[in-house]
Amino acid sequence: MEQQLTLVLLPKDASSSRTFLKFFLYFFLVAIAYYFFISLDSPPLSPSGDASSSKCDLFTGEWIPDPSGPLYTNLSCHHIQDFQNCMLNGRPDVNYLFWRWKPSGCDLPKFNPSQFLERVRNKWWAFIGDSIASNHVQSLICILSQVEEMVEIYHDKEFRSKVWRFPSHNFTLSIVWSPFLVKSETLDGSSEIQLYLDRLDHKWTHQYSNFDYVVISGGKWFLKETIFHENNTVTGCHYCHGKYNLTDFGYDYSYRKTLKLLRSFVQSSTHKPLVLFRTTTPDHFEYGEWNTGGYCNRTMPFKEDEAKLKTVDDVMREVELDVFQNFREGSIKFRLLDTTGMSLLRPDGHPGPYRHPHPFAGVKHRSSVQNDCLHWCLPGPIDSWNDVMVETILNR
Ligand SMILES: *[C@@H]1O[C@H](CO)[C@@H](O)[C@H](O)[C@H]1NC(C)=O
Ligand SMILES: *[C@@H]1O[C@H](CO)[C@@H](O)[C@H](O)[C@H]1NC(C)=O
Ligand SMILES: *[C@@H]1O[C@H](CO)[C@@H](O)[C@H](O)[C@H]1NC(C)=O
Ligand SMILES: *[C@@H]1O[C@H](CO)[C@@H](O)[C@H](O)[C@H]1NC(C)=O
Ligand SMILES: *[C@@H]1O[C@H](CO)[C@@H](O)[C@H](O)[C@H]1NC(C)=O
Repeated sequence: MEQQLTLVLLPKDASSSRTFLKFFLYFFLVAIAYYFFISLDSPPLSPSGDASSSKCDLFTGEWIPDPSGPLYTNLSCHHIQDFQNCMLNGRPDVNYLFWRWKPSGCDLPKFNPSQFLERVRNKWWAFIGDSIASNHVQSLICILSQVEEMVEIYHDKEFRSKVWRFPSHNFTLSIVWSPFLVKSETLDGSSEIQLYLDRLDHKWTHQYSNFDYVVISGGKWFLKETIFHENNTVTGCHYCHGKYNLTDFGYDYSYRKTLKLLRSFVQSSTHKPLVLFRTTTPDHFEYGEWNTGGYCNRTMPFKEDEAKLKTVDDVMREVELDVFQNFREGSIKFRLLDTTGMSLLRPDGHPGPYRHPHPFAGVKHRSSVQNDCLHWCLPGPIDSWNDVMVETILNR
């Protein structure tokens, strides 16, 4: 994990009749929502989803107390990676488990795994990205495994890319490790990564035609020491300390090029899965950065005005919105999964030191323990990404 962390984190008027109609519609919708809410086991409930989401911005809201807690525990889910198994690793506080995301304009239904599996029968769903994408897929697996255990049918050498099947639903789920989304390579003995900004990573593109649903994301890897290749020439770099006399164009340059390439791929591909792009995930290191003793010891969500996006996430999200905001033309099935804001409000959701069991055993200075304030505890706030994902994908 030391290595994983290092890898991931490197540097860092209206007439009264209209009003009446609105009120009527509102109460009608509430009644429908209520009806479906209290009868969760009844047949598919897309009407409530359609009704609430057509007006509701799912991504603006607040975290409200949820005494019912998560859908799974460290005991009922057998697929939590040790690094994210905060309870097993001894995290003492549990308050962070009892919140749910409440969009300002509507209620977000809690994930219903049986319904989900029914909806995705015979489908293939893929996540593409870095270790945060793995974190996300693990949360989904933990939720789904409460209804049906899956079978792993493939993993790569490093156990980073995997394929699972849920046999009784003939549902296939993949995680494809591709932190840059474009072709990348590290030459022997060099620290920098070669990025080919005009070639997408074959690893995911060659499988693309299999997928019915794709959740794709980029992120912090673009902050690393990278050399940019375009048109078979080296055009620039990022964080390369003036090596080879190259111009540092910044991570926003490579990130923008990558997302534009991704966009035109989705646009021109004859295969049209439903594609979702998940926006940047904020870290919550305080009192320092990941490599300078930073930590995250908060135990409560932020209120909206307490949180501020760090520059890096601000820049990345801006690139993401810039490239994808109005990308929903013609036959393209595309949605933005803008989880940045809701995640920003959860400084309490990270493993911190509890990446390992007994992190402070035999340690002289607590400050010398490496903290993880980027990935998310399971169970934890990242479970809510699946609530908004389902609402975004299936019910709209
Ligand atoms: C689950 O978490 C509890 C603490 O809440 C811990 O005592 C127990 O060992 C954990 N079990 C597993 C299997 O992770
Ligand atoms: C299972 O799903 C795949 C697509 O993921 C489909 O090609 C296949 O026909 C399905 N099998 C059955 C028995 O329905
Ligand atoms: C790469 O080549 C294309 C077409 O020849 C050109 O439009 C583009 O500006 C070139 N890009 C760079 C970075 O040189
Ligand atoms: C970088 O540029 C300087 C000044 O133009 C030159 O003296 C030096 O040889 C160049 N270094 C490399 C590695 O090309
Ligand atoms: C977190 O650490 C800071 C500085 O060490 C301390 O002032 C604060 O009380 C701690 N917060 C919690 C919730 O433990």
